[in-house]
Amino acid sequence: MSGLRQSLPGATITGWAAALPDTVVTNADFEARLDTSDAWIVERTGIRERRFGGTTSTLAIEACRGALKRAGVEAGDVDLLILATTTPDKRVPATSSIVHAELGCRGAAFDLNAACAGFVYALVTAVSMFQAGFRRALVVGSDTLSRITDQDDRGTAVLFGDGAGAVVVEATPDHELILSHDLGLDGSLLPILYCNHAGYIQMEGREVYRRAVRATVESAARVLSGTGTSGAEVKLFVPHQANRRIIDAVVDRLGIVPERSVIVVDRTGNTSASSVPIALTEAVEAGRVEDGDLILMSGFGAGMTWASALLRWGT
Ligand code: ACO
Repeated sequence: MSGLRQSLPGATITGWAAALPDTVVTNADFEARLDTSDAWIVERTGIRERRFGGTTSTLAIEACRGALKRAGVEAGDVDLLILATTTPDKRVPATSSIVHAELGCRGAAFDLNAACAGFVYALVTAVSMFQAGFRRALVVGSDTLSRITDQDDRGTAVLFGDGAGAVVVEATPDHELILSHDLGLDGSLLPILYCNHAGYIQMEGREVYRRAVRATVESAARVLSGTGTSGAEVKLFVPHQANRRIIDAVVDRLGIVPERSVIVVDRTGNTSASSVPIALTEAVEAGRVEDGDLILMSGFGAGMTWASALLRWGT
């Protein structure tokens, strides 16, 4: 089930920031206590290190503060906060309540769980909400997957990290930000990737890999074809950062210029809903996009969910 929709209200991204915990966990750290090796991890995933620590709310607050500062926007002028996460601090209330209170936002706030596709789901949702009268949104992906990963399971422990990324999105009639989008889900694939309450992530890695490549290619191709855009016209590809091999396979199949894809997975591991805004922040801060450039975002995750959006950058 999937849906391509167009004609969202006008918007611009005016602020962006990432937050990573201080503790660096290298492949050598895993080598020291699990039956694994730096060579295996790098070859199969591209991951060299990841960060562990913080909570979903503390990381989200840090990223939101950075994005607000970059945008020159006061928290009190934000009327919508959407927090994409699969690792909420508490069962009740939503982690967005904690972030909303700490920052001093006004208006609505809610959590959104679409796993690693969560940030793109949240961004499309926020811009859609401008139709309902909201004007200024904080969209944040924050996850602390290290808390729900069995650190003695070599099959999953080496893959995940903690972090957050946020953007400020403002309504404007003058700029079309989201040119096309594709949000979808195949719930029949739940058994290949899930985590029960008080349990650890369970994953059929090879099957997730196969499905992830297919879902991302098909979803991204739909948003490109929906606007008559070729992969070669994409100036920046910001994929979910689960595995370098998945990103390279998708880039190859979509005809995207390889140097235009953003890679942070080598330093962050898979940070779930945070990975797209962390990668976007790094690329924008490095001056890799200019006004008018086309940015393709694409993610997939447990559910299985997928989400892609074609953006025109404009500040
Ligand atoms: N170190 C050494 N060996 C390992 C490790 C490790 N860390 N982990 C697994 N192995 C072994 C396996 O036990 C297996 O051994 P066997 O052949 O003796 O049984 C062998 O390596 C091959 O295992 P595979 O799982 O087939 O290896 P594969 O090449 O598929 O790589 C990986 C595994 C990296 C997990 C890959 O399948 C992958 O990236 N899958 C996608 C994962 C993903 O994206 N998950 C996130 C989804 S997003 C979300 O919502 C959280």
